[in-house]
Amino acid sequence: MGKQDASTAQSAFAFQAEPYPVEQGTVYWITGLAAAGKTTVATKLCEHLRRSGRPAVLLDGDRLRAVLGAEAAFAPEERRRLAMTYGRLCRELAEQGIDVVCATISMFHAVREWNRAQIDRYCEVFLRVPFDVLRRRDPKGIYARHELGEQKQVVGQDLEPELPRSPDLVIDNDGAMTPDEAVDLIVKAACDPARAVA
Ligand SMILES: Nc1ncnc2c1ncn2[C@@H]1O[C@H](COP(=O)(O)OP(=O)(O)OP(=O)(O)O)[C@@H](O)[C@H]1O
Ligand SMILES: [Mg+2]
Repeated sequence: MGKQDASTAQSAFAFQAEPYPVEQGTVYWITGLAAAGKTTVATKLCEHLRRSGRPAVLLDGDRLRAVLGAEAAFAPEERRRLAMTYGRLCRELAEQGIDVVCATISMFHAVREWNRAQIDRYCEVFLRVPFDVLRRRDPKGIYARHELGEQKQVVGQDLEPELPRSPDLVIDNDGAMTPDEAVDLIVKAACDPARAVA
């Protein structure tokens, strides 16, 4: 290879090495107690984002537990570690340009504070539902089993939740609005820097 060829090859390499610009994705952190409607609303939000042309992934607590082999990790410290893992995973994906919808209880101030400090586009949504509605819904029978003494470490029962202190959006997801209406609110209000309560 002649001198000229070598310099051409070098500049071609330098051109290729230029990083491809990536627009950060948004992390939608959908939180609430068991049966608050996280999976329902998060699934619809993710579909909405995809229909809008966004690359979007849904990270759902139950499925993440299965992926990580953590189906039985319900003690507070295990929950905290899992929640931190979810936050880090969300950031990793968002930094590569993907919108992430994460449906998780993860009732820890420290985890949400980490998210807000470490994730550029972070949108925290709290699905607030009174206990009587949660117990009536109870599709997995969690609250019923807890009442019978068959299940322990239930957040909001024998585990004290650290409820979100400064979410971008609070939705009273008690059945007064449909999940689609909740998604509309998230899309319209949650990314607005002015905080909203629905
Ligand atoms: N806006 C709504 N109106 C009426 N019912 C709803 C609404 N949102 C969710 N639900 C119902 O509440 C139940 C619980 O919803 P979902 O499974 O999405 O909750 P979750 O927060 O993901 O619970 P978990 O923490 O146990 O995974 C479901 O039967 C769902 O159909
Ligand atoms: Mg769920």
